[in-house]
Amino acid sequence: NRLGSEQPGDQSSCQPPPIKLGIMASGSGSNFEAIAQAIERKELNATIEVVIYNNPTATVAQRAMRLGVPSKLMDHRTYETREALDNAIAAQLKTDQVDWVIMAGWMRRVTQQLLSAFQGRILNIHPSLLPSIPGIRAVEQALAAQVKITGCSVHLVELIVDSGPIIMQAAVPVLPTDTPATLQARIQVQEHRIFPQAIAIAAHQANTSFEQQPT
Ligand code: GRF
Repeated sequence: NRLGSEQPGDQSSCQPPPIKLGIMASGSGSNFEAIAQAIERKELNATIEVVIYNNPTATVAQRAMRLGVPSKLMDHRTYETREALDNAIAAQLKTDQVDWVIMAGWMRRVTQQLLSAFQGRILNIHPSLLPSIPGIRAVEQALAAQVKITGCSVHLVELIVDSGPIIMQAAVPVLPTDTPATLQARIQVQEHRIFPQAIAIAAHQANTSFEQQPT
């Protein structure tokens, strides 16, 4: 009962097959749910094969259950090294035949193990206008710096945290009355809007550049 847009018999001949997504999340999972809703509304031609989460109390697991998406706890505390965790995650994602890995609030640094397994096919969302304000607590950092505009970025994942080519961004104003919670809520509205679109754009760009390779 995997959530997705694939219906027997409704694939027109010119429609590419749905993109198989594997979600990685550490917390609430609101971005995961936004992606799932975009698929339900047929705005994104994809299926979600699995949600991997690393924190036993992450509410993303409850969202996945409610939406009928398989989820798997891979607790980083039960692996000796970052590389061992990423090897196990890559193996699970390969087992689920995932095309694209979507880091939707994954709060761990990734290693070359995962990057090599899904070369150029890992996306992350970050709550700032990268390359400004990378790293943790980006919303608090934006308030501390008194920036007047911040936002969110979807980018391809590389080894350096919050680096990699940017696929899509949205800007939001910072209001004088903002607290971390109010600013984060305003950013998340935009995250939920752009993440599904960015997945479609990144997948399309990857297919296009593949097709353009000299034979
Ligand atoms: C998002 O704000 C994202 O930018 C950051 O982690 C948060 C995840 O939120 N990387 P949620 O778990 O999707 O609600």
